[in-house]
Amino acid sequence: MNSAEIRQKFLGYFASKKHTIVPSSSLVPHSDPTLLFTNAGMVQFKHFFLGSETSDYTRAVSAQCCVRAGGKHNDLDNVGYTARHHTFFEMLGNFSFGDYFKEEAITMAWDFITNELNIPRDRLTVTVHHSDQESENIWIKKIGIPKERVIQCGDNDNFWSMGETGPCGPCTEIFYDHGADIPGGAPGSSESDGDRYIEIWNIVFMQYNRTIDGHLHPLPMPSVDTGMGLERLSAVMQGVHNNYETDLFKEIIHTAEQMLPHTEQARDKNEHLSSLRVIADHIRSTTFLIKDNITPSNEGRGYVLRRIIRRALRHGHKLNMPIHFFSRLVPVVIKIMGGAYPDLKKAEHAIESTLYREEDAFSLTLNQGMKLLEKELLSIHGTVIPGDIIFKLYDTYGFPIDLTADIARERLLQLDEIGYKKCMAEQQERSRQSSKFDIDYNQNEQQMEILRDKSSTFLEVTHGETEAQIIAYIPGEKDILVLDKNSLLPRRWRASR
Ligand code: GLY
Repeated sequence: MNSAEIRQKFLGYFASKKHTIVPSSSLVPHSDPTLLFTNAGMVQFKHFFLGSETSDYTRAVSAQCCVRAGGKHNDLDNVGYTARHHTFFEMLGNFSFGDYFKEEAITMAWDFITNELNIPRDRLTVTVHHSDQESENIWIKKIGIPKERVIQCGDNDNFWSMGETGPCGPCTEIFYDHGADIPGGAPGSSESDGDRYIEIWNIVFMQYNRTIDGHLHPLPMPSVDTGMGLERLSAVMQGVHNNYETDLFKEIIHTAEQMLPHTEQARDKNEHLSSLRVIADHIRSTTFLIKDNITPSNEGRGYVLRRIIRRALRHGHKLNMPIHFFSRLVPVVIKIMGGAYPDLKKAEHAIESTLYREEDAFSLTLNQGMKLLEKELLSIHGTVIPGDIIFKLYDTYGFPIDLTADIARERLLQLDEIGYKKCMAEQQERSRQSSKFDIDYNQNEQQMEILRDKSSTFLEVTHGETEAQIIAYIPGEKDILVLDKNSLLPRRWRASR
């Protein structure tokens, strides 16, 4: 079954159980300042759970686009290292707002995966919160799962919260056993981080609202929120042990492989695999983030986007990929996902050109920064990259710290984060001092407006040589040149687009 069929089957099954099909909401949570990105299917329903808004329906089903690259749920560091983590994924979920509760939620989940998808029962293990006797009884007595395959876990594994505040509650999870040849142990065991037992479905019993002081307040009506990763389910249904081998990723990885230079293609494929998977993951998240109107910048959501892009470009650099390989993958993502998300096609040009510009901007300093790092690594003693090097890579070459951490991890090195923070604090103090320089604020009001304009951005030292319009010249103790950032594009790009 391909992923489009699985998505459709899930929505259809719950529609037949009187659930309203609700489209995926934007990756930018609607009026929710507590969250960086939509990180679960329940986000768009948060206020229904809290009782602060009412819905026209008490049952809903969705396939929700999610990004987990910051905040409480952050999988960025795991991408490329496991078979199952992504910065972007689709979450299939069914929801009850004060309608059904534990028994019906568990019964429908089991029916869907064992009868609709025909996943073998003996491959499934479940976990319950250790305080949740009711769910344990339902699994053992009603569903008939052998007692030894119902595992009790604590808050870390079986209490789900959307963030530091908001709806939360105990959960019961369903795991698929990929087989003894895959490293990893049963949930709750010390080897549970491996890829053998994969959590495919999380059924959360929304019972509380956590407030900023950490208190749990009972919700007005007990509800249900479920989450099943489409990528993980596709792996199970397509008989593969790694999400990156499913139809959602295969063609992206194949296209990237075709772009490898011949010298790289001649090498052992496994040497490239992890980087190709990171690239495939990151092109999906960046494509969807830009579609949802996030643009790369130096702060907030835009900075997370920029960090993901730069991380992908660094993996491309490692594989000697040609420049602009990353933006060239956008059409493949749209080919795979455009049927379910037609807005992607409309945004195709904007997505490609945004990534193309980021590739131009970072390519020069990426090369220089990598050279600096390689040189420094030859002379370090021990296994720690010094703070001043991490800072220089960040400040001069535009390497976000997690990018440097990714390189360090590959080479079994650590980062001197304290030293890095010290350099950062010193630099902030220097820039505070130098911002006191003398400008005659009355000299030219129109020119000063340009400087105050919020759309002015610091573009970093990433554009080696380019052309720009001078839109203001303000003489003073330090002269100021204001350049039109839109003209900061390489001539080649402007000519071809
Ligand atoms: N909201 C349930 C989950 O994300 O697992």
